[in-house]
Amino acid sequence: MRIVLLGPPGSGKGTQAQAIAKYCGFLHISTGDMLREAADQETELGRQAKGYMEAGELVPDETMISIIENRLSGENCRGGFVLDGFPRTVNQARELEDLLKKKERELDIVFSLEVESERIVERLSNRRLCRNCNRDYNLLSNPPEKESRCTWCGGVLYQREDDRAETITNRMQVYEAETAPLKAFYAGVGLLQEIDGNGDVEKVFRDIASHLNCIGA
Ligand code: AP5
Repeated sequence: MRIVLLGPPGSGKGTQAQAIAKYCGFLHISTGDMLREAADQETELGRQAKGYMEAGELVPDETMISIIENRLSGENCRGGFVLDGFPRTVNQARELEDLLKKKERELDIVFSLEVESERIVERLSNRRLCRNCNRDYNLLSNPPEKESRCTWCGGVLYQREDDRAETITNRMQVYEAETAPLKAFYAGVGLLQEIDGNGDVEKVFRDIASHLNCIGA
């Protein structure tokens, strides 16, 4: 299957994409993770993307489309994939459609995670990540055993630069202006499935799984 996860920042795209990928054996493709990795490695792409990401702005379509084109050409995408963070504009969605068409493929389903704004701010401002193994913690819903240390590997926990209050507000505005119109785009082609993302991780996953025949739910 070829799945897209849409949703505002902090709606749980990464968390749910990881779970779907694990249960269905699909590849999890996160454009945010790819860009952060490039920024950490100080590649040319990383240097270009860093400023946009830290300001909560979108990286230009041209750059993102070429990253995805490259990623989807890999053999390991053949068994199915979950796209987390792409597409983010109608232009990116059209380009994705064309890319898949060239391979005689198409998307199977697009989930849109719907989460209340106050909850988004709460989730993002409480997110912490391990510098060593990248494990995700949430000080409210999934806290580490020891403050500021990863329970798994003992690595130091940090806050993403774009999870600071001012940037969260901008990311939410950018989502409304640039990405939310994708819901109408995908509803128009019969692919959209809205999911209530306000519940706990397991509840949201059960709801998603009920639409996927690779999970016996
Ligand atoms: P990206 O990394 O994709 O950021 P985002 O879309 O803002 O998403 P997040 O990672 O913040 O949240 P999420 O929805 O994945 O939620 P998560 O599961 O992590 O992109 C970063 C930047 O890269 C962009 O701003 C842009 O600059 C650039 N970029 C990336 N793709 C691009 C593109 N296609 N075009 C242009 N630019 C692009 O969960 C968040 C927190 O909540 C975690 O702590 C988690 O544990 C917790 N949580 C999750 N689910 C639940 C739940 N059900 N209950 C309680 N807590 C929960």
